[in-house]
Amino acid sequence: MEIQKGMFFLGFCIFFISASAALQNKVTDNPADELLAVLNSNRTAHKSSALYSSPGLACIALQYLKAYQGNCGAVGGPDAEKPADTQFAETFAPNCGVEVASLTPITGRLLGCETKYVKPSEAFSDILMKNNKSLEILYSTMHTEVGAAVSGSDGGSPYFWCVLFSNGTSNSSFVLEGGVAKISKPGCFSGANDQCNGANALSEIPILVSVAVGVLVLLLSRIGV
Ligand SMILES: *[C@@H]1O[C@H](CO)[C@@H](O)[C@H](O)[C@H]1NC(C)=O
Ligand SMILES: *[C@@H]1O[C@H](CO)[C@@H](O)[C@H](O)[C@H]1NC(C)=O
Ligand SMILES: *[C@@H]1O[C@H](CO)[C@@H](O)[C@H](O)[C@H]1NC(C)=O
Ligand SMILES: *[C@@H]1O[C@H](CO)[C@@H](O)[C@H](O)[C@H]1NC(C)=O
Repeated sequence: MEIQKGMFFLGFCIFFISASAALQNKVTDNPADELLAVLNSNRTAHKSSALYSSPGLACIALQYLKAYQGNCGAVGGPDAEKPADTQFAETFAPNCGVEVASLTPITGRLLGCETKYVKPSEAFSDILMKNNKSLEILYSTMHTEVGAAVSGSDGGSPYFWCVLFSNGTSNSSFVLEGGVAKISKPGCFSGANDQCNGANALSEIPILVSVAVGVLVLLLSRIGV
């Protein structure tokens, strides 16, 4: 009788988790594109121009995040670090298939890291806009184009968010070899018409984790916890 109850409860949990995952996937196609939409509508509401969404720049923003190798503490705060400028030409651009000769100056960056995954609109207002220099960066008239990226680490958390701005001309900067961005997982970036389903796509081992959790739940229910 107890076992039957346990199995019913387990089944209910699995049903509920998969139903909510399906719902989440419908709501968000790509968190980096959503972040850019929020950013651009905030700029236009402030009478600033909407910025061109550059897939090459966005792919580089993802490489920029990966350079932190999951070290959330190196983002902001007293121990803040940033990747060397030389890495743009040496590693980020080649990894993305961006022609090195077409790199243009980075005119601003917004960066944040949190252990919890939040919606892109919340990442914008609660993570990226936290610093009061952020508004200055957001509304700068220097920028002409923008790219956004979100990256998770092993198993998902922590989540890194990055927006890079440049003052290049849309069709002649961050030019992609063959016209397509190299999609590299895990992580999502804007502008590439790439479906990238939120937290799931940010984790390196999502299936493994789900299976491990499932097994654990099963074991606990067996020993009657
Ligand atoms: C734009 O973003 C800033 C920072 O989060 C916020 O204070 C402001 O209200 C936003 N503006 C609009 C029109 O949403
Ligand atoms: C940033 O915030 C601090 C204190 O919260 C304030 O003293 C300073 O003037 C602000 N700077 C700008 C540029 O708004
Ligand atoms: C872009 O910005 C850099 C400095 O940040 C400046 O030297 C360069 O002239 C600017 N280019 C354009 C096209 O505005
Ligand atoms: C870039 O766009 C401008 C106008 O938007 C056009 O005149 C120019 O030919 C384009 N250049 C390339 C390389 O496509």
